[in-house]
This record gives sequence, C-alpha cells and structure tokens, in this order.
Amino acid sequence: MCGIVGYIGKRESRGIVLDGLSSLEYRGYDSAGIALIEGGDGTLIKQVGQVKGLIKKVNKTKPKGNLAIGHTRWATHGAPSILNAHPHTNKDETIYVVHNGIIENYTEIKTKLISKGYVFISDTDTEVIPHLIDYYWKNLGDFDKAFYKALKDLTGAYAIAAISTHAKNTIYAARLSSPLVIGVGTDEYILASDPTAIMPHTKKVIFLEDYDVAKISKNNCYIHNLKKTKEGIQEPELLDYDNNVVLLGDYPNFMLKEINEAPATIKTATTGRVLSSQNLIKLGGLENVEQQLKYIDRIVIVACGTSYYAGLVGEYLIEEIAGIPVEVQLASEFKYRDEPFSRSTAIIAISQSGETADTIAALKKVESYGVLRLGVVNAVGSTIARMTDAGVYCHAGPEQAVASTKAFIAQVTVLNLIALLLSNGRTKQFKPLLMELEALPEKAKTVLESAEAIKKVALKYKDYKDFLFIGRHIAYPVALEGALKLKEISYIHAEGYAAGEMKHGPLAMIDDKFPTFAIATSNHLLEKTYSNIEEIKARKGPVLAIANNSNKDINKLVDDVLYIPETLEQTKPILEAIVMQLFAYYIAEAKGYNVDRPRNLAKSVTVE
Ligand code: G6P
Repeated sequence: MCGIVGYIGKRESRGIVLDGLSSLEYRGYDSAGIALIEGGDGTLIKQVGQVKGLIKKVNKTKPKGNLAIGHTRWATHGAPSILNAHPHTNKDETIYVVHNGIIENYTEIKTKLISKGYVFISDTDTEVIPHLIDYYWKNLGDFDKAFYKALKDLTGAYAIAAISTHAKNTIYAARLSSPLVIGVGTDEYILASDPTAIMPHTKKVIFLEDYDVAKISKNNCYIHNLKKTKEGIQEPELLDYDNNVVLLGDYPNFMLKEINEAPATIKTATTGRVLSSQNLIKLGGLENVEQQLKYIDRIVIVACGTSYYAGLVGEYLIEEIAGIPVEVQLASEFKYRDEPFSRSTAIIAISQSGETADTIAALKKVESYGVLRLGVVNAVGSTIARMTDAGVYCHAGPEQAVASTKAFIAQVTVLNLIALLLSNGRTKQFKPLLMELEALPEKAKTVLESAEAIKKVALKYKDYKDFLFIGRHIAYPVALEGALKLKEISYIHAEGYAAGEMKHGPLAMIDDKFPTFAIATSNHLLEKTYSNIEEIKARKGPVLAIANNSNKDINKLVDDVLYIPETLEQTKPILEAIVMQLFAYYIAEAKGYNVDRPRNLAKSVTVE
C-alpha cells in the first residue's frame, strides 16, 4: 500500500519521480507529494487526490534537483489531506521522509518528542520519523548516525526513504516488512516500492531485505543490514520483462487491457511447463523440493482477496486431480489460528503482488514448524517469492488495475499445473488436461471476441442495486470471484453463493429487483443448478447465466445467456472468470467509474 519513488543521479529528478508515482498509483491514490533537494535547499510539494493533481501543481514551478523522493498515499492514519500526505518533514524543513507501513510505537515516540518541544502537524504515524531523525541529528551532528539511531527506535513495518539538506548527495532507505527495490542505472539510482516504477529506466535491480539500510549516492549504493553481517556494495540482479506490459497502448484503462491479456497470460503460464507431446508437466520452480513433495499428505492454501478465490478453485483441482486433501484459509484468519500441523503438510501462499501483509504473516507463522512453504506468486523477486522454499511464478506480468483479472487467470492455470504435477501422472485426466491447457488461449480469445454481447447484457443489468452470483462445485468459487469483481469496481452489492445453499437463506432476498448471475456450464450437477434457477424464476428473480456453446436449452429457462466454448471442468473457471470480469467492467464503465482505481481500495495491501 502506498507507493514510494526516489531518484538520485545526473538527470532532472522531477519527471522521473512523478512518472514513477503515476505507475505506482495503483498502490494508493488519496494524495501524493514530492520533495527535492537542489544545492542546499529543499522543496516540498503535496496535493490531495490522484498523482495527476500533483503533476499539475509541480509543473507550475518546475522545481529543479538531481535528488528527490515522492509518495502516493493510501490513508491509514489520518484522512487524505495535504498535511497528512507524504513526504513529511521536520520544523526546519531540512529532512524529508516518505514511508509505507505502520510505525506501531509512534504514540510513544511522539509523546517523547513533544516533551522535548517538537510540534506535530499531521495525524500520521510517519511524521514521527523526520522529527526523530532531527532530534538525533541535533544531538549527534552526523546524519548517518541520526538515521540509524532513529530506525532503531521504530517498531512495526516500514519502507522508508529519506533525504536531507544535511546530506545533500544521498538518499537513505530502509526496509522492514514492506518492499523496496533499487534500480541501478549508469551514474543513477531509482528507488521504488515495486519494480514497475523502475522498469522504464533499468532492468538491473537490488531487492532490499528486512533490516537492510541503504545509503545511495549518484554512483554508489552501500547496503548495511541491522541484524546480519551483510555490509557493502551488492550485485544487482536482472529483471526479465517486456517493457510494453506496463504501458496502456490503445486501451482506455489497465483493467480492460489486463482482461484482454488472458490468452497471452495462459500461454506464458504454460509455455515450457505443459509438454503434452511428451505427456509431461515440468515446473522448474518445484524441482528442488521434488522429494519432499512425495510425502505431502495435506495442503493448506493461504491467500487474500481474488487470490483466495483462486485458492478455492485450486482446492477442487488438487483434491480431484492429485487426491491430496486441501484446505484454503484466508491469510488474515490463518495467522491468528492455533491449529495442529504435521510436517507432511505443505503451505501454498498465493499472491499476485507477493507483498500482501496477511499472507506474509501467515508464512511467517509457520516458519518454525518445519513445513514446506510454497508460493504461487506473480511479482518476481517479491517478499513472498523470496521467503518460500519453492514455488511457481504466474508470469502474468505486472497487473496495474486494482481489481485483479489476469492474475486470477494465471493463478488458476498454475494451480492446474501443480495439481497435475502432484498427481504424478496417476490421473486419467492427465493427458486430456495437458492438451486442453495448450488449447485454452484460443478459447479465451473466443470469449474475448464476445465482448460486445457481454457489454449488451451488462448494460441491461447495470442499474440493479443487488446481485447474486451462484455456482456449484468448481464454479462456486468462480461465483464468489464474480461477485467480488462487481462490487469492487461498480459498487453494486453482490454476493457469491453455492447454488445448493439458495434454500438456506438467499431465496428470501429474491424478487424482480434482485437478479442472479448463474454459472450453468454443463457438468454432472447441471440439472441441480437448473432447479435452483427454476426456484429463482418462480420468485420473479431475473436470471442471467453463463453456459456452454452447446447448451441452447438454457435459453428457455433464463432471461439472458452468455456462452463460452466447450472446455474441461478444470479449465472452465478460467473462461467463466473472463466473462464475469468483462461483465463487471462494462457496468462500472457505463456508470462512469474509474475502473482502475476503485474508491477506498488499493492494489497491494501491505498493512494489516
Ligand atoms: C487487494 C487487491 C486484490 C487482491 C488482494 C490480494 O485486495 O485489490 O486484487 O486479490 O489484495 O493481493 P495479492 O497481491 O496477495 O494477490
């Protein structure tokens, strides 16, 4: 949550930091700010609202400087306002700080500083940091020491970047449980809370670890770890990506672009891994734990949001393909539970960003249990990718719209692969599923080609205030995800339910103002779903359904049908999800909402 960008080098820093903030805006967009140092003077500019407002304000004065830090905020402590926006500064305006995370002991520090005459002007926890550095600077007269001393007083989670007129050729950065990456250019460094802001400048990056403190000058980046013996210059690693993935191209927004990337996403997630001609599944990321995997007799999947729903799909896949019992838990619940664990359990953390605080905490909880910790992660080099023993990358490329779309497609694809691998070829579905995964990108393309039909139906339903999404078996979690998509971006109240639960409550809600989106793709339970639909129709509830191309009968039963190509039970969630993503998208678009930046939400939830 919140985006940090910093620049030091030979170029004018203003544009680089502002562009970086725009690309990180999905992490928070309540307010934004920038601080620059030129000669011995600092400039601070902040604005409430999206980064474009800040850019406009900055462009009025065009402040100069080869050194700057910026921030785009998702409010935790204190409402969105100029005073609460970052960077925060001390009274003399000599120290500027941006921060992601939460300083848990800020009240204690604030009380101490107030007793020493410090005055606070914001409601944030972050403001204690520049004052604390100022306090130590005034006592020690050495900025390095002041920064280190201040860090040692902080508890909680942080990614911090600080600049000061007392140390005008340096950016100071520190990380504890909140990501920070340093892009290494030629005589320049770009610091950011995720690589998206760095990608246009360099592929060489250094991911900071917990307790790392970096001192970055124009041609040197010195890293010291507060807990380990690590100290000195660190070799960067090379990020492998295509720069176009972070650009909008001809699309009006990232959500539509990312939904349309589904075919490519499936292809990238399966290429080199699904080898149907050799009847083989190859997951390089799990090779080093191959032996351990043989002894796994229980899997616990932990995740949040859309990744959690992908996990629920994974439960059906792994249990039915590999025959291993699976339990899926919300990471926020899992981390506070006290449940028995055997060593033959494997944890799978699913996360697009790899930075979700609750999912990280869930993994940390089992650190000492001796269980295998696996990751299904999209963001390469992210915290979860680093802290797991092994894993399978989704390789969907950066996802920028807050509502997750292509990442869900990639996660379900990868979970199919993991299920197949764990089955050791012992399932009848092995070969057919391998072949279907290879055919799936074309089928996803067909679904996308029906966008106009989906749009037409979406416009018909856009003014309803409530929506029910139902499905059975593996379509049940897809219904949950469909409801989440709709509420996230269109603000229509939507609930996902197992179709079999209708009589246990939801039916009470049904009338002509409460439509249902039913997933009625043919499977062994289709007749039962039909019965549920009949019960809804008998109560005048409008019904819109997803069905297979071959199932023309359903027309007689429901008000509207959206068709998907025939596919296997295991790959249906992928095609169904694309329909639901487009449905939610067109409703939100018709309502005139910002589909990429829904109100009150942020893409990467790095605080509890
Ligand atoms: C936020 C995002 C969702 C995402 C969830 C989990 O709520 O808006 O799109 O599904 O976090 O994030 P993760 O990065 O762990 O998948």
